[in-house]
Amino acid sequence: MVNAKGYRRLFLALLACLGASLLLNRGRSREEELPRHVVNQHNGWAESNTCYDCHVEVDGFVGTGHGETLQPAGSEVSLKLLRQIASSPALQDKGIQIEERGDEVYAIHTDQQGTQEIRLDWCFGSGLHARTWVGTLGDSWGATDQVEFRWTWYNHLDDFGLTPGQPEEQMPGYFGHLGVLYDHPKTRRCFACHTTRLPIDEGRIDFSHMVTGIQCQRCHGPQEKHVQSEGEISEHSWVGIDHVESVNRCAQCHRRAEELEDEQIHPDNSFLARFQPIGLTNSACFNSEKMTCMTCHDPHLPLAKQKLDGIWQCTQCHDGTAENYGLCGAGQLDDCMSCHMPKIKDETPLLFTDHWIRVRSDKGEIHDKKDE
Ligand code: HEC
Ligand code: HEC
Ligand code: HEC
Ligand code: HEC
Ligand code: HEC
Ligand code: HEC
Ligand code: HEC
Repeated sequence: MVNAKGYRRLFLALLACLGASLLLNRGRSREEELPRHVVNQHNGWAESNTCYDCHVEVDGFVGTGHGETLQPAGSEVSLKLLRQIASSPALQDKGIQIEERGDEVYAIHTDQQGTQEIRLDWCFGSGLHARTWVGTLGDSWGATDQVEFRWTWYNHLDDFGLTPGQPEEQMPGYFGHLGVLYDHPKTRRCFACHTTRLPIDEGRIDFSHMVTGIQCQRCHGPQEKHVQSEGEISEHSWVGIDHVESVNRCAQCHRRAEELEDEQIHPDNSFLARFQPIGLTNSACFNSEKMTCMTCHDPHLPLAKQKLDGIWQCTQCHDGTAENYGLCGAGQLDDCMSCHMPKIKDETPLLFTDHWIRVRSDKGEIHDKKDE
């Protein structure tokens, strides 16, 4: 048996290798600085829905990307997309079929050489941007591994495309046509960033007790005591923490600058756009101790319901009063985001908002576009 401390140590070690596979090779270990995930804490959890009994003010949380970011592959939303594979323009000549057998769903590849199949178990991503499926299997030690399906559904294309991070050329081996096989540590990392609670039993993910999606207690910590005492404040409170700690809590999943090599961190690296905390903490605006992710985002509402257009985010500080940080040097009074926080395309079909707020080197081009 591994005790709670053992699990924590194990998990910190896992966190340390996080980047090695997820980000470009950086090889630097900062495990001692990484915040702890609460996902594998054993005790102290309240039943997820009890929060709504007292906190009606946050019931807008239902339908957020966080809450919906992991579903069983057999759920309606997932099956609906998988069934589209038959008519997907992108997958016409790929020999991929989906077959439902009772409660289970299989991806099957057939060509002259033969047939391979995997059972798809989980669907990652809320679908606001994309959804990727994985099939899980036990390795020879009994630990949980997974095959990540080669094809991801992209919302803005309403079609499938290659899964981010997978090679254009298929991998060798049985699963090659269907996806990439990941070992246990990598499998566990995927689930750890997309769940609230991830119990591990002798190396196996205990799927029956896993709490899917990023629910209240993932950000607020296990709250059994809080519920029993009807409001006692826990050690995980966001009240009274400084702006660096605040951003780091979001960055345990959205990524921290320490996870990359210094030379990767420069404003023109479009790869950084999907790692919002890295951009934000490098912005001159982050010199203001008021700046956190919540300066603009409400974590209790879906992105589409947050008012993220307009100028209010910026005029909280750049309002032209003497003690604040000045108005736009180019004399602009509107549309701040389009020049200072534009959407960037990385190597995947996805668009991300560049959170490195700055005067951009491509400002000339942006001006031309505006002037047209
Ligand atoms: C029985 C009622 C009750 C339930 C159930 C309940 N809370 Fe609370 N909660 C309260 C009260 C009362 C306060 C205000 C405490 C105060 O401000 O002194 C509070 C305050 C909070 C706060 C703000 C204070 C802080 O810690 O930063 C958070 C966050 C919170 N609750 C999260 C949760 C979560 C998550 C759940 C579900 C697991 C939950 N609550 C369930 C009664 C409840
Ligand atoms: C446990 C990991 C985790 C933590 C902690 C976390 N996020 Fe996220 N966040 C995610 C994942 C995964 C998604 C993708 C959700 C999806 O599938 O659409 C996401 C999506 C988002 C989105 C986009 C939502 C949308 O509707 O497209 C915003 C904004 C966001 N997170 C902000 C935050 C902020 C602010 C914090 C800290 C208060 C935070 N996140 C903490 C994992 C996390
Ligand atoms: C370090 C935490 C972390 C790990 C590990 C992780 N993810 Fe995510 N994932 C996120 C965050 C944060 C987002 C939201 C990205 C955004 O919208 O900015 C996300 C988004 C997604 C999305 C939705 C597409 C999108 O970009 O919004 C899918 C699908 C997904 N992840 C699948 C996976 C799979 C499969 C694995 C394992 C191979 C994995 N993730 C590992 C944090 C993580
Ligand atoms: C992505 C992380 C995240 C998730 C998920 C989340 N919260 Fe919060 N919550 C926060 C943060 C951050 C704050 C502090 C807000 C601030 O400083 O402006 C907060 C504040 C609160 C507060 C204090 C009052 C307030 O609105 O500022 C309560 C109560 C609360 N959350 C309850 C919940 C409940 C209940 C859920 C689930 C339905 C939930 N939270 C889900 C991040 C989260
Ligand atoms: C100055 C305002 C501002 C701050 C601060 C901010 N964001 Fe954003 N964020 C935005 C805007 C604007 C969008 C684009 C919204 C849209 O597309 O509708 C966005 C979009 C996102 C998305 C969706 C994916 C994408 O890149 O478009 C995620 C995830 C996200 N922010 C996470 C974070 C996190 C984590 C933090 C803290 C490190 C943070 N944001 C701080 C303004 C901000
Ligand atoms: C929480 C306060 C705060 C918010 C909100 C904020 N800023 Fe800033 N901003 C600052 C501070 C502080 C500086 C640095 C001023 C200095 O050093 O003189 C700064 C500097 C800048 C600079 C100059 C950057 C450079 O590299 O010199 C630009 C451009 C900028 N902000 C644009 C924006 C835009 C656009 C928004 C809204 C999306 C925004 N800021 C939101 C506080 C903020
Ligand atoms: C059409 C593109 C564009 C728009 C829209 C725009 N800016 Fe700018 N902004 C610039 C350029 C270009 C500069 C650099 C000006 C210079 O140095 O001559 C700049 C500079 C700044 C600076 C730094 C000022 C300094 O003296 O260092 C701040 C702060 C700023 N903008 C805030 C804003 C805010 C707030 C908004 C929305 C109300 C906004 N900008 C809208 C292009 C834009």
